[in-house]
Amino acid sequence: MNGFLMEPYYGIDITEIDGFDNLHCPEGILKEIMDRAGRLFGAETYLLVNGSTGGILSAVSAAVRRGETILMARNCHQSVFHAVYLNECKTEYIYPPILEKYGLCGGISPESVRAKLADHPEIRAVCVTSPTYDGVVSDVKAIAEEAHRHGIPLIVDEAHGAHFGLDKRFPKSAVEMGADLVIHSIHKTLPALTQTALLHVQGERISRERLRRFLSVYQTSSPSYILLAGIEQCVSILEQQGRALCHQFFEWNRVFEERIEHLRYLHVFSGREADATGIFAFDPCKKIICTVGSGLTGRTLYDRLLHDYGLQMEMAGQTYATAIMTVMDREEGFVRLADALDRMDTNLTADAAGETACDVWASADSVSAGLPVFVADTIASAMEREQETVLLEACSGRIAAKFIHIYPPGIPLIVPGEYFTDGLIRLLRSYRAQGFTIEGMREHNQKVCVIGREQYA
Ligand SMILES: Cc1ncc(COP(=O)(O)O)c(C=O)c1O
Repeated sequence: MNGFLMEPYYGIDITEIDGFDNLHCPEGILKEIMDRAGRLFGAETYLLVNGSTGGILSAVSAAVRRGETILMARNCHQSVFHAVYLNECKTEYIYPPILEKYGLCGGISPESVRAKLADHPEIRAVCVTSPTYDGVVSDVKAIAEEAHRHGIPLIVDEAHGAHFGLDKRFPKSAVEMGADLVIHSIHKTLPALTQTALLHVQGERISRERLRRFLSVYQTSSPSYILLAGIEQCVSILEQQGRALCHQFFEWNRVFEERIEHLRYLHVFSGREADATGIFAFDPCKKIICTVGSGLTGRTLYDRLLHDYGLQMEMAGQTYATAIMTVMDREEGFVRLADALDRMDTNLTADAAGETACDVWASADSVSAGLPVFVADTIASAMEREQETVLLEACSGRIAAKFIHIYPPGIPLIVPGEYFTDGLIRLLRSYRAQGFTIEGMREHNQKVCVIGREQYA
């Protein structure tokens, strides 16, 4: 009987029938939507019906040839790692600074990009995530300048920042800052259906022929016109009401910020904290509610907001829970979140024992211990080796054969080919104890996949 729920959609669920254009070779109505989106975002724009994931796979594939080296932020989303895997690329990483007090990552500094590019002339493209899942924006303009000085393109995964540039009070968009390829999940922060996204390209560094080729590889040949019509509607809403929606957002957000200012134990991160160094700008749509010193973990805060206040958070970290407020939220949403935080905060007592714990990456641990990061040449070659499954407790010093991550945010804690370090094992144990779902572990989070010992002798 469930089928009846979907009945209204059957009538509009067409694909590329006569008169309805072709996503992979657009000349009619889809071309018009692309052009309108391009005008809004200031670039040449492609429509994506397979999320930012499809755009990122295509962008990396277009920018870097098989086996070449990419410089990427270690806190990129798994889709960037998957693109690297599929293209058998080599990787150089930039590690964002860790803001220990909040358990958050800072931004990627242009200086760290400059240093890597100077040391590794073989790098063919740079890729960073800005804003991060936590709303942290990097200095994309300066990073683009560093990449361009070496004649290579910059890809910015701006999946969470599709609203940037719509109002000058939001951070400037990566397109405006000069990135060559920019990917937007419009379904995350704009009025658009899940899976809809945009890919923007500008300048001469990216071959359009390669880009279109890979978009055809990674996107379906039967795109849903429900999704495509959803993109058109999103563009229309922004064209007609974008300014007013942003204006409203900033008005309600101002009141929200005033209300949460006096919280005693919970702290809503603004990026303007004196000790929040390494952050170029911060996305006001992200409400990172830090629990350090409050006696709560991010997970308990997330659960309480859901069960006691009916507020669905975007994600829980170890020491914070994240809410996303967008230009489509109503005043009621801001008021309910402020009320809930106010009420919870009043009932808390200081807990100095509250620990900060930030995600650590096995490879960052290895770097600081002076160990090699990778045993294999590439992620792809590590994944092809003989594997075995061992208990988490017994995997220190072994080499991962699979990605492991918490979703969200979907940033690999370990990448195939990297060493399991004691720091990562501790982190995974604490995630397990707090009830997080850990993707990539086996048998109820007890075991991990490693490369057989004889494979790297
Ligand atoms: C930073 C980042 N990039 C890319 C993606 C993939 O986006 P999509 O779900 O639209 O494929 C996500 C998804 O959460 C993300 O957080």
